[in-house]
Amino acid sequence: MCGIVGYVGDQKAAPIILDGLGRLEYRGYDSAGVAIIHDDRIQIRRDVGKLSNLRKRVVDAPLTGSVGIGHTRWATHGAPVEQNAHPHVSMDGEFVVVHNGIVENYRELRDELTAEGVHFSSDTDTEVIVQLISRFARNGANGDVTEATRRAVQHLRGAHAIVVMSRTQPDRLVAVRIGNAGGITVGLGESENFIASDIPAIIEQTRRMIFLEDGQAATIQSDQVSIQTLQGRPVTPTVHQIPWDAVSAAKGEYQHFMLKEIFDQPRSITDTIRGRVDFEHGRVLLPDLNLSGETAKMLSRLVIVACGTSYYSGLVGKFFIEQLAKLPVEVDYGSEFRYRDPLLGENTAVLAITQSGETVDTLAAMETAQKKKALLWSIVNAIGSQAMRVATGYITMNAGPEIGVASTKAFTASIVDQYLLALYLAQERSTISHGELSAHLQHLAQLPDLVGHALESYSQVQALAAHFHNRRDFLFLGRGINYPVALEGALKLKEISYIHAEGYPAGEMKHGPIALIDENMPVVAITTKHTVYDKMISQIEQVKARGGVVIAIATEGDLAIARKADHVIYVPTSPEIISPVINVIPLQLLAYAIAVRRGADVDQPRNLAKSVTVE
Ligand code: AGP
Repeated sequence: MCGIVGYVGDQKAAPIILDGLGRLEYRGYDSAGVAIIHDDRIQIRRDVGKLSNLRKRVVDAPLTGSVGIGHTRWATHGAPVEQNAHPHVSMDGEFVVVHNGIVENYRELRDELTAEGVHFSSDTDTEVIVQLISRFARNGANGDVTEATRRAVQHLRGAHAIVVMSRTQPDRLVAVRIGNAGGITVGLGESENFIASDIPAIIEQTRRMIFLEDGQAATIQSDQVSIQTLQGRPVTPTVHQIPWDAVSAAKGEYQHFMLKEIFDQPRSITDTIRGRVDFEHGRVLLPDLNLSGETAKMLSRLVIVACGTSYYSGLVGKFFIEQLAKLPVEVDYGSEFRYRDPLLGENTAVLAITQSGETVDTLAAMETAQKKKALLWSIVNAIGSQAMRVATGYITMNAGPEIGVASTKAFTASIVDQYLLALYLAQERSTISHGELSAHLQHLAQLPDLVGHALESYSQVQALAAHFHNRRDFLFLGRGINYPVALEGALKLKEISYIHAEGYPAGEMKHGPIALIDENMPVVAITTKHTVYDKMISQIEQVKARGGVVIAIATEGDLAIARKADHVIYVPTSPEIISPVINVIPLQLLAYAIAVRRGADVDQPRNLAKSVTVE
């Protein structure tokens, strides 16, 4: 949710921090701020709204100094006004803090500190952290920022990512991670080091990164980084080499990241498949899953946990895994899983799907699975993220950085990962013949080209957007393996255009939503030539009989559908099993084109954040 960037080195800190915050803009925020130390003085600039407002402040009142921290805030406690923007300074002016998370016991702590004579200058929960650090620096920590921070955070309830700077130890930053309130990544440079809540913020500076684990603190100076537990025990960290390059995190010729990411999909899907298939011998290779053939055979159930778009991707995965690996699959919301005491037997595997690897609800579901000793896997895009680290096995999406808040290429990449997983399980459980497996591998090989072809519908979709962008409601219908695609199409549209949209399994239409149908509510029907084609045609007829307007997603060459639907968007012919990946393309484009027509902020839709790190 909130974004954090820190710098210690010999360059000017402010431009590096502002640049890093700019690369985190996709996370969503309502104010931003930066603090730089220079000549024993902490200088702070903060402003509400876009980062450009803060940049302007820094131009008007420049900041010198080569140690600093910055923050983009997504308000939880206290309105999005300047006084609540981070960084927050202790009453004595000695310490400054940026924070991601919620201090669950902040009321008690605030009352306790107020009784001690502390005066608060914001309504935030974060301010209690900096006041506590200052209290412990005076009492017990002997002014040492690492020690004072370690002591202070032991009094906080909740999950936190915190970075602290001290006026009296101006050569260092201290970062702490407690629970799953978003990551803390330490970037290692030459005579300079970086901190960020997410890789893209600092990928242009370095690719060598350390990810703080739950319960660890890092003291970062320009020439050294030391990691310890909150109890003070030294930790030797693993240094990860991050493969993403900075170029792939840039918008290039596209007007928005979302559009770039939609058009990235032929490439990203190729990267998802690359190295996972031995086409010559007809085998799927997933070494990072850490799954032996013996364990694969023993499995009796798989539970998929995820949120939002990743949840819809899991609904598609259920079709693959049940059909190919003959393994019963249940899909649950990450946010619900821990509240229903799930039954997880010895032979149950839990698969978390998460682009960011940071979604707090999905991580909580993983924790529940871990406690119940289930086999735990993840499908993640963010390399080194918590969801990747806590799982016993994982499959990376390899989609590259996804910056647009509305997920697109991670949806298709995670579906492809689940197709690979289903094939792998089928291969290891011997539920598929060699010939069948080879046929599926051919489908995979075709997929990037088919997606490329589906993208050719963009100009037609733009024309439809011009026609429909002023509608208030939309209904999306799909059936069988494409019903989750209808749900995803509706989610995309509402997220970025703020049009009310509902997605339904088409057969459910007559059980309620049919009451809504009239000439003002377009119905998008996924009607490609597959097993449920005739059923979808009869749904279209039911809509038409009630004066509804139908936009059909149909298979190239299907001329008959043009006589039934009002508008048709054609996609290439494909085997049914991979059709969700192809059919979602025009829906992504439609949501995008409508949002652009409505003048919406496509990459940073209101109220949304890229990584949802609060419950
Ligand atoms: C997708 O467009 C959304 N922004 C959102 O639903 C997202 O998919 C969800 O928050 C889960 O995120 P994750 O995949 O990073 O866990």
